[in-house]
Amino acid sequence: MEDFSGFYKLSVSERLAKVKKSAGLTDEEAKALSDSGALQLERADKTIENVIGAIHLPLGLATNFTINGKHFVIPMAVEEPSVIAAACRAAKQTLPEGFKADADEPIMIGQVQLTGIKDVAEASKNLALNRKEVLGIAAGHMKQHEKYGCGVRDFETKVLDTERGPMIIVDFLIAVGDAQGANMVNTVLENVAPSLAQLTGGRVRLRIVSNLATKRKARASAVWKKDIIGEETIAGVLDAYEFAKHDIYRCATHNKGIMNGIDAVALATGNDWRSVEAGAHAYASLGHYKPLTQYHKNEKGDLIGSIELPLALATVGPAVNSSPTAKIALKIMNVRGSKELAMGMCCVGLANNFAALSALATEGIQKGHMKLHARNIAMFAGALTPEETEAVAEELATEKNFDVEHAKQVLQKVRKM
Ligand code: MEV
Repeated sequence: MEDFSGFYKLSVSERLAKVKKSAGLTDEEAKALSDSGALQLERADKTIENVIGAIHLPLGLATNFTINGKHFVIPMAVEEPSVIAAACRAAKQTLPEGFKADADEPIMIGQVQLTGIKDVAEASKNLALNRKEVLGIAAGHMKQHEKYGCGVRDFETKVLDTERGPMIIVDFLIAVGDAQGANMVNTVLENVAPSLAQLTGGRVRLRIVSNLATKRKARASAVWKKDIIGEETIAGVLDAYEFAKHDIYRCATHNKGIMNGIDAVALATGNDWRSVEAGAHAYASLGHYKPLTQYHKNEKGDLIGSIELPLALATVGPAVNSSPTAKIALKIMNVRGSKELAMGMCCVGLANNFAALSALATEGIQKGHMKLHARNIAMFAGALTPEETEAVAEELATEKNFDVEHAKQVLQKVRKM
């Protein structure tokens, strides 16, 4: 593994050259990145409807991630300044041990809704008696995926008493390998549903994957040592955590900071971030809405942080393939499949959360943000080179004056120097 220390100090082309070498990217792949991952319009037009263009987001790399002893550089696509820097800094503070992580088998839940059933108890009994037959029919629609370890594992039934009468919901548990699984699951459900209707005498309504993938969770933890981050930061993070535990207004923002990292990795790797978001917040709400991370102090006084959430991710399949950069991002990350990707994402989410809490509870986050804001203003005011941008940004930040007209004057002054 290449040494990525000081990666942030390199120019974009130097970074690209470094990652090309370390990840073994082809010239074509490196070019796709340097072309800002330009999505050809013909391709875009085949991906969604009514296409008129494509949008771009910056793609960066989070460094310093050691997970279960393996070193990772993690691609993140995000428009918000500081998110990647914060993840890198928090990850660095866990070294040399880094993060521990694991992930469940990729099992998705797919739901079939049956309504208008005359005798719900009888219908449920019928489903139980015909378990083998139902599983056999469902499995018959997974044949071509079996070689990837996919298959229908089981089903569970529940009765919902609703304002429109009782309904039977059949939840299928389906192993989907390294795919996100929605298509695979929905196909099975649509094919098995008629036999469920027959067995229950009910009418089939919805047949759809659940985004609350509680059978497909990933988790990570890390130790932030007292000697490295200081007792004041530990106390601050613990206070911030208690705040989130006891106040839903704070908790939403706490979890947003986690999703800053998780969504960025999902986007970079071509994953369905809406399903990740839906799953994360529904999981946080089981019982009552809670932080997705936890913190406590160990007997040595060090801070232990941990995270757990459902992550239904793909490292194969159409979404990954239709993005010109997602496959390259996965190659850079060098993950062995959807489980390892989920572990990496968890670590980034935890790192971003720790970084936000430690900054918020001590010096605040505006100082760092303002430096980046100043750089943006400097560029907006016309700064062309990194040197000009830095010099103007420095002065704006020192004077705490971010007015664009003022930035233009500072730029003129810098150019005369
Ligand atoms: C901003 O994108 C994220 C934070 O608000 C998260 C938090 O407050 O924990 C800084």
